[in-house]
Amino acid sequence: MRRPRYRPRRLRLTPQARRLASEAILDPGHMILPIFIGEGIKRPEPIESLPGHYRYPPRSTELVDYVSKALDLGVRSFLLFSYTKRKDRIGSVAFARDGPVQTAVRHLRRELGWEPALFTDLCICSYTDHGHCGVPRELPDGRVIIDNDETLEVYAKIAVSQAEAGADFIAPSGMMDGQVAAIREALDEAGFTHVGIMAYSAKYASVFYGPFRGALDSAPRFGDRRSYQMDPRRASEALREVELDLEEGADIVMVKPALAYLDVIRLVKQSFPWAPLAAYNVSGEYVMVKLAGENGLADYSTLMMEVLTAIRRAGADIIITYHALEAARLLREGFDPF
Ligand code: PBG
Repeated sequence: MRRPRYRPRRLRLTPQARRLASEAILDPGHMILPIFIGEGIKRPEPIESLPGHYRYPPRSTELVDYVSKALDLGVRSFLLFSYTKRKDRIGSVAFARDGPVQTAVRHLRRELGWEPALFTDLCICSYTDHGHCGVPRELPDGRVIIDNDETLEVYAKIAVSQAEAGADFIAPSGMMDGQVAAIREALDEAGFTHVGIMAYSAKYASVFYGPFRGALDSAPRFGDRRSYQMDPRRASEALREVELDLEEGADIVMVKPALAYLDVIRLVKQSFPWAPLAAYNVSGEYVMVKLAGENGLADYSTLMMEVLTAIRRAGADIIITYHALEAARLLREGFDPF
Protein backbone atom coordinates (compact mmCIF):
# COMPACT_ATOMS: atom_id res chain seq x y z
CA MET A 1 0.00 0.00 0.00
CA ARG A 2 1.29 3.45 -0.89
CA ARG A 3 0.89 5.99 1.90
CA PRO A 4 -0.48 9.35 0.87
CA ARG A 5 2.28 11.95 0.73
CA TYR A 6 -0.01 14.93 1.22
CA ARG A 7 -2.51 14.83 4.04
CA PRO A 8 -5.03 17.67 4.01
CA ARG A 9 -6.75 15.93 6.90
CA ARG A 10 -4.07 17.13 9.37
CA LEU A 11 -5.59 20.59 9.20
CA ARG A 12 -9.00 19.14 9.89
CA LEU A 13 -8.09 17.16 12.98
CA THR A 14 -8.85 19.70 15.72
CA PRO A 15 -11.23 22.66 15.93
CA GLN A 16 -8.32 25.03 16.36
CA ALA A 17 -6.45 23.67 13.33
CA ARG A 18 -9.61 24.16 11.28
CA ARG A 19 -10.06 27.63 12.62
CA LEU A 20 -6.47 28.59 11.80
CA ALA A 21 -6.92 27.44 8.23
CA SER A 22 -10.31 29.09 7.76
CA GLU A 23 -10.69 31.92 5.28
CA ALA A 24 -14.27 33.11 5.48
CA ILE A 25 -15.02 34.65 8.86
CA LEU A 26 -18.37 35.98 10.03
CA ASP A 27 -18.46 39.25 11.90
CA PRO A 28 -21.62 41.11 13.00
CA GLY A 29 -19.86 44.37 12.08
CA HIS A 30 -20.15 43.32 8.44
CA MET A 31 -23.85 42.61 8.64
CA ILE A 32 -26.76 44.90 7.90
CA LEU A 33 -30.11 44.21 9.56
CA PRO A 34 -33.23 45.14 7.55
CA ILE A 35 -35.91 46.85 9.65
CA PHE A 36 -39.52 47.48 8.66
CA ILE A 37 -41.30 50.65 9.68
CA GLY A 38 -45.10 50.63 9.69
CA GLU A 39 -46.98 53.88 9.26
CA GLY A 40 -50.00 54.48 11.47
CA ILE A 41 -49.51 51.56 13.86
CA LYS A 42 -49.33 51.83 17.64
CA ARG A 43 -47.49 48.66 18.60
CA PRO A 44 -44.97 46.50 16.73
CA GLU A 45 -46.82 44.07 14.46
CA PRO A 46 -45.39 40.64 13.71
CA ILE A 47 -44.80 40.07 10.00
CA GLU A 48 -46.44 36.77 9.17
CA SER A 49 -44.33 36.06 6.10
CA LEU A 50 -41.06 36.82 7.94
CA PRO A 51 -41.06 34.95 11.26
CA GLY A 52 -39.14 36.80 13.96
CA HIS A 53 -39.53 40.21 12.30
CA TYR A 54 -41.94 43.06 13.07
CA ARG A 55 -43.17 46.31 11.64
CA TYR A 56 -42.23 49.04 14.11
CA PRO A 57 -44.02 52.34 14.61
CA PRO A 58 -41.63 55.07 13.40
CA ARG A 59 -41.48 56.95 16.69
CA SER A 60 -41.55 54.14 19.22
CA THR A 61 -39.45 53.05 22.14
CA GLU A 62 -39.73 49.50 20.78
CA LEU A 63 -37.86 50.57 17.63
CA VAL A 64 -35.16 52.28 19.66
CA ASP A 65 -34.86 49.25 21.95
CA TYR A 66 -34.57 46.91 18.99
CA VAL A 67 -31.76 48.96 17.44
CA SER A 68 -30.05 49.30 20.83
CA LYS A 69 -30.16 45.55 21.33
CA ALA A 70 -28.56 45.06 17.91
CA LEU A 71 -25.84 47.60 18.72
CA ASP A 72 -25.06 45.67 21.93
CA LEU A 73 -24.61 42.54 19.87
CA GLY A 74 -22.23 44.28 17.45
CA VAL A 75 -24.70 44.73 14.60
CA ARG A 76 -24.28 48.42 13.82
CA SER A 77 -25.89 48.87 10.40
CA PHE A 78 -29.56 48.94 9.51
CA LEU A 79 -31.52 49.08 6.29
CA LEU A 80 -34.91 50.76 6.70
CA PHE A 81 -38.02 49.93 4.68
CA SER A 82 -41.50 51.16 5.22
CA TYR A 83 -45.07 50.11 4.97
CA THR A 84 -47.78 52.66 4.27
CA LYS A 85 -51.40 52.73 3.22
CA ARG A 86 -51.00 56.17 1.67
CA LYS A 87 -50.28 55.07 -1.88
CA ASP A 88 -50.48 56.96 -5.20
CA ARG A 89 -49.10 56.84 -8.74
CA ILE A 90 -45.63 58.24 -8.02
CA GLY A 91 -45.30 57.19 -4.37
CA SER A 92 -45.28 60.71 -2.89
CA VAL A 93 -45.06 59.44 0.69
CA ALA A 94 -41.58 58.16 -0.17
CA PHE A 95 -40.33 61.75 -0.22
CA ALA A 96 -42.66 63.26 2.37
CA ARG A 97 -40.97 64.99 5.26
CA ASP A 98 -43.28 63.07 7.57
CA GLY A 99 -42.92 59.78 5.67
CA PRO A 100 -42.47 56.71 7.88
CA VAL A 101 -38.79 56.20 7.01
CA GLN A 102 -37.94 59.87 7.46
CA THR A 103 -39.74 59.94 10.80
CA ALA A 104 -38.02 56.78 12.01
CA VAL A 105 -34.57 58.03 10.99
CA ARG A 106 -35.12 61.36 12.77
CA HIS A 107 -36.32 59.55 15.87
CA LEU A 108 -33.37 57.14 15.92
CA ARG A 109 -30.93 60.03 15.46
CA ARG A 110 -32.52 61.90 18.34
CA GLU A 111 -32.36 58.87 20.62
CA LEU A 112 -29.15 57.17 19.55
CA GLY A 113 -27.12 59.82 17.73
CA TRP A 114 -24.78 58.68 14.98
CA GLU A 115 -23.87 55.35 16.53
CA PRO A 116 -26.04 53.23 14.22
CA ALA A 117 -25.26 53.39 10.50
CA LEU A 118 -28.62 54.00 8.87
CA PHE A 119 -29.23 52.91 5.30
CA THR A 120 -32.55 53.84 3.72
CA ASP A 121 -34.01 51.77 0.94
CA LEU A 122 -34.94 54.04 -1.94
CA CYS A 123 -37.79 52.71 -4.05
CA ILE A 124 -41.44 53.47 -4.63
CA CYS A 125 -43.01 49.99 -4.85
CA SER A 126 -44.34 50.07 -1.29
CA TYR A 127 -45.67 53.62 -1.78
CA THR A 128 -47.45 53.25 -5.14
CA ASP A 129 -51.00 52.09 -5.82
CA HIS A 130 -49.69 49.91 -8.71
CA GLY A 131 -46.80 48.36 -6.75
CA HIS A 132 -44.10 49.00 -9.36
CA CYS A 133 -40.66 50.38 -8.58
CA GLY A 134 -41.11 53.09 -11.22
CA VAL A 135 -43.79 55.35 -12.63
CA PRO A 136 -45.99 53.73 -15.30
CA ARG A 137 -46.73 55.41 -18.60
CA GLU A 138 -49.04 54.33 -21.39
CA LEU A 139 -47.49 54.25 -24.85
CA PRO A 140 -49.48 55.37 -27.92
CA ASP A 141 -49.80 51.70 -28.88
CA GLY A 142 -51.59 50.97 -25.62
CA ARG A 143 -48.80 49.18 -23.77
CA VAL A 144 -47.90 50.31 -20.28
CA ILE A 145 -44.20 50.67 -19.53
CA ILE A 146 -42.31 51.79 -16.47
CA ASP A 147 -40.92 55.20 -17.40
CA ASN A 148 -37.24 55.28 -16.53
CA ASP A 149 -36.53 58.99 -16.60
CA GLU A 150 -39.70 60.22 -14.94
CA THR A 151 -38.89 57.78 -12.16
CA LEU A 152 -35.40 59.24 -11.77
CA GLU A 153 -36.94 62.59 -10.91
CA VAL A 154 -38.93 60.99 -8.11
CA TYR A 155 -35.87 59.08 -6.87
CA ALA A 156 -33.87 62.32 -6.68
CA LYS A 157 -36.49 63.82 -4.34
CA ILE A 158 -36.59 60.71 -2.16
CA ALA A 159 -32.80 60.71 -1.81
CA VAL A 160 -32.71 64.30 -0.63
CA SER A 161 -35.55 63.80 1.85
CA GLN A 162 -33.86 60.71 3.31
CA ALA A 163 -30.54 62.55 3.59
CA GLU A 164 -32.30 65.48 5.29
CA ALA A 165 -33.73 63.07 7.83
CA GLY A 166 -30.22 61.81 8.64
CA ALA A 167 -29.47 58.71 6.57
CA ASP A 168 -25.80 57.72 6.24
CA PHE A 169 -26.31 55.79 3.00
CA ILE A 170 -29.09 55.85 0.43
CA ALA A 171 -29.81 52.44 -1.09
CA PRO A 172 -31.63 52.63 -4.44
CA SER A 173 -33.28 49.29 -5.22
CA GLY A 174 -35.51 50.11 -8.19
CA MET A 175 -33.12 49.11 -11.00
CA MET A 176 -33.80 52.17 -13.17
CA ASP A 177 -30.96 53.04 -15.55
CA GLY A 178 -28.92 55.99 -14.33
CA GLN A 179 -30.43 55.94 -10.84
CA VAL A 180 -27.10 56.25 -9.05
CA ALA A 181 -26.03 59.27 -11.13
CA ALA A 182 -29.40 60.96 -10.62
CA ILE A 183 -29.27 60.44 -6.87
CA ARG A 184 -25.62 61.45 -6.57
CA GLU A 185 -26.29 64.68 -8.40
CA ALA A 186 -29.37 65.51 -6.33
CA LEU A 187 -27.55 64.80 -3.07
CA ASP A 188 -24.54 66.89 -4.07
CA GLU A 189 -26.68 69.82 -5.17
CA ALA A 190 -28.54 69.78 -1.87
CA GLY A 191 -25.28 69.82 0.08
CA PHE A 192 -25.20 66.13 0.99
CA THR A 193 -21.82 65.29 -0.56
CA HIS A 194 -21.02 63.30 2.60
CA VAL A 195 -24.02 60.97 2.27
CA GLY A 196 -23.13 57.70 0.56
CA ILE A 197 -24.86 55.39 -1.89
CA MET A 198 -25.19 51.63 -1.58
CA ALA A 199 -26.45 50.61 -5.02
CA TYR A 200 -28.54 47.54 -5.62
CA SER A 201 -26.46 47.00 -8.76
CA ALA A 202 -27.12 43.44 -9.83
CA LYS A 203 -30.65 42.83 -8.63
CA TYR A 204 -32.33 39.88 -10.26
CA ALA A 205 -36.04 39.39 -10.96
CA SER A 206 -36.41 36.71 -8.31
CA VAL A 207 -39.18 34.69 -6.78
CA PHE A 208 -37.14 34.72 -3.56
CA TYR A 209 -38.58 38.19 -2.77
CA GLY A 210 -42.05 36.78 -2.09
CA PRO A 211 -42.11 37.01 1.73
CA PHE A 212 -40.77 40.58 1.60
CA ARG A 213 -43.57 41.74 -0.65
CA GLY A 214 -46.01 40.32 1.88
CA ALA A 215 -44.31 42.37 4.60
CA LEU A 216 -44.67 45.65 2.70
CA ASP A 217 -47.69 45.01 0.50
CA SER A 218 -45.42 45.93 -2.42
CA ALA A 219 -46.18 43.29 -5.05
CA PRO A 220 -46.91 44.71 -8.52
CA ARG A 221 -50.68 44.94 -9.16
CA PHE A 222 -50.18 44.31 -12.88
CA GLY A 223 -47.37 42.68 -14.83
CA ASP A 224 -44.07 41.88 -13.18
CA ARG A 225 -40.64 43.40 -12.61
CA ARG A 226 -38.83 41.71 -15.48
CA SER A 227 -38.53 44.89 -17.54
CA TYR A 228 -36.22 46.41 -14.91
CA GLN A 229 -34.77 43.65 -12.72
CA MET A 230 -32.14 41.34 -14.19
CA ASP A 231 -32.75 38.03 -15.93
CA PRO A 232 -31.61 35.08 -13.74
CA ARG A 233 -30.05 33.49 -16.82
CA ARG A 234 -27.43 36.23 -17.18
CA ALA A 235 -24.23 36.48 -15.12
CA SER A 236 -21.79 38.69 -17.02
CA GLU A 237 -24.30 41.52 -17.33
CA ALA A 238 -23.83 41.99 -13.59
CA LEU A 239 -20.36 43.31 -14.37
CA ARG A 240 -21.80 46.00 -16.63
CA GLU A 241 -24.37 47.01 -14.02
CA VAL A 242 -21.70 47.21 -11.31
CA GLU A 243 -19.32 49.12 -13.57
CA LEU A 244 -22.00 51.68 -14.42
CA ASP A 245 -22.93 52.15 -10.77
CA LEU A 246 -19.30 52.67 -9.79
CA GLU A 247 -18.82 55.19 -12.59
CA GLU A 248 -21.98 56.97 -11.48
CA GLY A 249 -20.65 57.27 -7.94
CA ALA A 250 -21.79 54.25 -5.93
CA ASP A 251 -19.79 53.73 -2.73
CA ILE A 252 -20.99 50.16 -2.14
CA VAL A 253 -22.34 47.82 -4.81
CA MET A 254 -24.65 44.88 -4.29
CA VAL A 255 -25.65 41.50 -5.66
CA LYS A 256 -29.15 40.33 -4.82
CA PRO A 257 -30.32 37.65 -4.01
CA ALA A 258 -27.23 36.03 -2.49
CA LEU A 259 -27.57 32.28 -2.06
CA ALA A 260 -28.70 31.38 -5.56
CA TYR A 261 -26.26 33.94 -7.04
CA LEU A 262 -22.96 33.03 -5.36
CA ASP A 263 -21.33 32.82 -8.78
CA VAL A 264 -22.29 36.42 -9.47
CA ILE A 265 -20.89 37.53 -6.11
CA ARG A 266 -17.61 35.84 -6.95
CA LEU A 267 -17.50 37.32 -10.43
CA VAL A 268 -18.11 40.86 -9.20
CA LYS A 269 -15.56 40.57 -6.37
CA GLN A 270 -12.90 39.27 -8.72
CA SER A 271 -13.55 41.96 -11.30
CA PHE A 272 -13.79 44.90 -8.87
CA PRO A 273 -11.77 43.80 -5.84
CA TRP A 274 -11.51 47.37 -4.56
CA ALA A 275 -15.26 48.01 -4.44
CA PRO A 276 -17.03 47.16 -1.18
CA LEU A 277 -19.51 44.45 -2.11
CA ALA A 278 -22.77 43.73 -0.33
CA ALA A 279 -24.89 40.63 -0.86
CA TYR A 280 -28.56 40.59 0.08
CA ASN A 281 -29.58 37.33 1.74
CA VAL A 282 -33.22 37.94 0.83
CA SER A 283 -36.50 37.10 2.50
CA GLY A 284 -37.15 33.84 0.63
CA GLU A 285 -33.70 32.55 1.52
CA TYR A 286 -34.29 33.40 5.16
CA VAL A 287 -37.68 31.72 5.24
CA MET A 288 -36.34 28.59 3.55
CA VAL A 289 -33.75 28.18 6.30
CA LYS A 290 -36.38 28.87 8.99
CA LEU A 291 -38.72 26.26 7.59
CA ALA A 292 -35.99 23.68 7.24
CA GLY A 293 -35.13 24.24 10.90
CA GLU A 294 -38.72 24.14 12.08
CA ASN A 295 -39.42 20.94 10.19
CA GLY A 296 -36.40 19.16 11.59
CA LEU A 297 -34.67 18.90 8.21
CA ALA A 298 -31.54 20.60 9.51
CA ASP A 299 -30.14 22.17 12.66
CA TYR A 300 -31.25 25.78 12.24
CA SER A 301 -28.19 27.49 13.72
CA THR A 302 -25.74 25.39 11.76
CA LEU A 303 -27.66 25.83 8.53
CA MET A 304 -27.79 29.58 9.01
CA MET A 305 -24.04 29.77 9.70
CA GLU A 306 -23.25 27.64 6.68
CA VAL A 307 -25.36 29.86 4.44
CA LEU A 308 -23.87 33.10 5.76
CA THR A 309 -20.34 31.69 5.54
CA ALA A 310 -20.93 30.63 1.93
CA ILE A 311 -21.98 34.17 1.02
CA ARG A 312 -18.86 35.55 2.64
CA ARG A 313 -16.64 32.90 1.05
CA ALA A 314 -18.03 33.77 -2.38
CA GLY A 315 -16.66 37.27 -1.89
CA ALA A 316 -19.21 39.47 -0.14
CA ASP A 317 -17.76 42.03 2.26
CA ILE A 318 -21.16 42.93 3.65
CA ILE A 319 -24.18 40.68 4.21
CA ILE A 320 -27.65 42.14 4.46
CA THR A 321 -29.57 39.53 6.39
CA TYR A 322 -32.66 38.89 8.50
CA HIS A 323 -30.49 36.45 10.45
CA ALA A 324 -28.16 39.21 11.70
CA LEU A 325 -29.26 39.25 15.35
CA GLU A 326 -29.46 35.48 15.71
CA ALA A 327 -26.05 35.09 14.08
CA ALA A 328 -24.52 37.83 16.24
CA ARG A 329 -25.86 36.20 19.39
CA LEU A 330 -24.46 32.81 18.45
CA LEU A 331 -21.08 34.30 17.52
CA ARG A 332 -20.93 36.09 20.87
CA GLU A 333 -21.55 32.75 22.62
CA GLY A 334 -18.63 31.31 20.68
CA PHE A 335 -20.82 29.03 18.58
CA ASP A 336 -18.70 27.46 15.84
CA PRO A 337 -20.35 24.61 13.94
CA PHE A 338 -17.32 24.07 11.72
C1 PBG B 1 -38.00 46.92 -3.36
C2 PBG B 1 -37.24 45.81 -2.72
C3 PBG B 1 -37.51 44.43 -2.75
C4 PBG B 1 -36.60 43.84 -1.89
C5 PBG B 1 -35.77 44.85 -1.39
N1 PBG B 1 -36.18 46.06 -1.93
C6 PBG B 1 -38.60 43.67 -3.39
C7 PBG B 1 -38.72 43.62 -4.85
O1 PBG B 1 -37.88 44.09 -5.61
O2 PBG B 1 -39.75 43.10 -5.25
C8 PBG B 1 -36.54 42.38 -1.56
C9 PBG B 1 -35.90 42.05 -0.25
C10 PBG B 1 -36.16 40.68 0.23
O3 PBG B 1 -36.79 39.83 -0.42
O4 PBG B 1 -35.69 40.40 1.33
N2 PBG B 1 -37.66 47.27 -4.63
